Amino acid sequence: MSGDSPKTFYLETFGCQMNVHDSEKVVGTLLQEGYRQVDTVEQADLVLYNTCSIRDKAEQKVFNRLSDYKKYKKQGKTFGVLGCVAQQEGEKIFERAPYVSLVCGSASYRKLPQMLRQLENAPLDSAQSPDTTLEPPAIGSIDSHPSNTAKGGAPSVGESRDSELATRNSSTRGSGLATRDSLIRITGLDDRETDACFETEFTARTNPHRGYITIIEGCDKFCAYCVVPYTRGKERSRTSASVLAEARQMADLGYTEIQLLGQNVNSYKDSEGNSAKRKSFAELLAAVGEVSGIRRVRFMTSHPRDFGRDIVEAIDAVPTLCDHVHLPVQSGSTRMLDAMQRLYTRDQYLERIAWMKSAKREISITTDVIVGFPGETESDFAETLDLLEEVGYDAVFAFKYSPRPNTPSLKLEDAIPDEEKARRLDVLMTRQREIQITSYKRYIGAQCEVMIEGRNEARSQYIGRTTHNKTLNFTAPPTANPKPGTYAPVVVTGSFPNSLLGELVV
Ligand code: 5AD
Ligand code: SF4
Repeated sequence: MSGDSPKTFYLETFGCQMNVHDSEKVVGTLLQEGYRQVDTVEQADLVLYNTCSIRDKAEQKVFNRLSDYKKYKKQGKTFGVLGCVAQQEGEKIFERAPYVSLVCGSASYRKLPQMLRQLENAPLDSAQSPDTTLEPPAIGSIDSHPSNTAKGGAPSVGESRDSELATRNSSTRGSGLATRDSLIRITGLDDRETDACFETEFTARTNPHRGYITIIEGCDKFCAYCVVPYTRGKERSRTSASVLAEARQMADLGYTEIQLLGQNVNSYKDSEGNSAKRKSFAELLAAVGEVSGIRRVRFMTSHPRDFGRDIVEAIDAVPTLCDHVHLPVQSGSTRMLDAMQRLYTRDQYLERIAWMKSAKREISITTDVIVGFPGETESDFAETLDLLEEVGYDAVFAFKYSPRPNTPSLKLEDAIPDEEKARRLDVLMTRQREIQITSYKRYIGAQCEVMIEGRNEARSQYIGRTTHNKTLNFTAPPTANPKPGTYAPVVVTGSFPNSLLGELVV
């Protein structure tokens, strides 16, 4: 930072929609703290990465970025790692990437303003050696959690630390972020036991039409392969009153689509003080759908164990609730589901699918699948392929099993070679593509309402999204000129494996 010009920051986000929305809140917080957002690392005083550690590949991305830090060090930039890798690796990040000054997991974001101020003010304190001075923790604390046991040398996210938020002053004095020595180190790593949600009135929403609202943070499901319960902490729900207030505020600002977010929205438990006013997830969904001005409501992600029939009833009853449910199955084999600790069988999963198929409106169903989980045989895999046929998904997100730190399945031998996982992934995606080539044809001739997301100039097409969450690219006469964020009727004229083609109805 030089003179009176505002401190600048660059933020890059990896991973899921929860991370994207967390970043909107982090950006809002930084703007409120007087920072200005810039588009490149070169322009920034403070460089932040909001990271994902769901699979090893995602985690490696951030360490690849961090390896570039060296060249920026001399320019005096300050680097911070936020999100799941921050929570998972903790202070180890300072060893792997010595120029990082801030490591902060999502459970500590509400303390960001204090951490930023600490980062800014640290060099003005007395000059001391980085290795000998450890200031007392200023914010927060970490207690140990029984399920967070460090493995493979990685620090446990719930490991007790004497000093959770520590500032190590460097021997260099500075007067702002740009002149800061890289040895200032601040960590915000609340453990799983936090009860607080990251609510802020300063969310900097990037899409002016579709807004995200987190209704539940963390996860208590502990699926055998999944790092999320360790990186995002325990389940904690916002009150329905605060969710509804945010939805109304967004409607007043002109948003017409709302997506309710959580790792497992179906286990939403209203923390409203007055028990008579507490809402189930399905009731909350319906109430958001009834907010005046809201035309579409989506939700993500569901867990089959907690997915109740009342959700389908809410979709039946409230027209603004979109005709799409993402219900991750992970495997079509009950034996594998058991090994994955998913808490449901294939038949129970199919029962939920049957509820959706008997809904008044056609509900588009999508899913996630993991191939090559330890012990998955050809016959287990064949059951997954068979399930694809039986359900007729509109999209499948499939992943090769990736062993993750701290997770129960890390104890199991990862015996299926990567080439075999890749083969199964390829077989599965090829099969699913064939299913979609056939099934998307069912829309041809239908009239769908789309929300217009933009225009593809090269193809002279508009990009729309249907209630089923399908991309519907369409042409329109030059006089029509439909605007992004508005809704329009489109007749479907063609289909591809992943999208539809159509013409504006004029
Ligand atoms: N390996 C592979 N895929 C995983 N997922 C979560 N953890 C792992 C892992 N360790 C997938 C699941 C989940 C999606 C978000 O990521 O399919 O639903
Ligand atoms: Fe991970 Fe399972 Fe929780 Fe989903 S429900 S976030 S897969 S632990």
